Amino acid sequence: MSISWTDSDPDDETDPIVFLHAFPLSGAMWAEQVSNLSRDYRIITLDWPGFGRSPLSALRENGEDGSDGLTGYAICLLDLLNRLGVERAHLCGLSMGGYVALSFFRLAPQRIRSLILCDTRATADTPEVKRGRYEIATMVREGGAEGIERLAAIMVERLLGDTTLNSDRVLVNRVMDLIRQNRSDGVARALVAMAERRDSTDLLPLIGGPSGVDTLILVGNEDKLTPPSEMRSLAASIKNSVFFHLEKAGHLPNLEQAETFNRLLREFLHRSSRR
Ligand code: MLT
Repeated sequence: MSISWTDSDPDDETDPIVFLHAFPLSGAMWAEQVSNLSRDYRIITLDWPGFGRSPLSALRENGEDGSDGLTGYAICLLDLLNRLGVERAHLCGLSMGGYVALSFFRLAPQRIRSLILCDTRATADTPEVKRGRYEIATMVREGGAEGIERLAAIMVERLLGDTTLNSDRVLVNRVMDLIRQNRSDGVARALVAMAERRDSTDLLPLIGGPSGVDTLILVGNEDKLTPPSEMRSLAASIKNSVFFHLEKAGHLPNLEQAETFNRLLREFLHRSSRR
């Protein structure tokens, strides 16, 4: 059983950009990036196991590295690259997607062409955040469809910035619909995986080291979950990384300020491909 994915041009042999989605959304959150960038790049999106069109049964076991709850998701990504014959890819991970990108770096750094880390962090959860995740996992497991509806109401407030919440009802509804399309088993499993994820700060000097990869760090100015100050520290720990914050965007700048997000991504990819 494999995860579900989209590939804009399977015949293109250049390094693709693989977009890794946030919790509790799906690969569909990258629609604006797919339509804009697939004119010039090969674009791959995927749904994590238990999200969008991927069954939870696609989740791979953690293998040897049982200490990182997200390794199983990173192995799914590795399997997908192998299946598509992709040797190296630009990985663009937002929030949970960023956690998995870091887990993937631990697993197979040679497969990463460059990293785009958006609204994410390298540290593990504090005990309080961890406890909150287990409570929400119980809520969605026990509540089924009703639990997902409550999750959508809670998460939309956290994910979107105040500017979007106050002025873009269409986007608010779209994000809620993306959340509603997920199933409680996948959502609960991902919450436990994130709660049990490993601290990745030891990787940061390697990412920016002499044999490291080009890294772009992006964050919305109004992000409440991974605030700009935290993202700035992440950028400071990755040598030669490039940092930008986007005005009038919260935790989902790829949706809230899609045009600016796409421009910054294009500029970075352009610079990175010339090296
Ligand atoms: C996400 O956007 O993926 C989540 O907010 C991540 C998290 O809860 O830490």
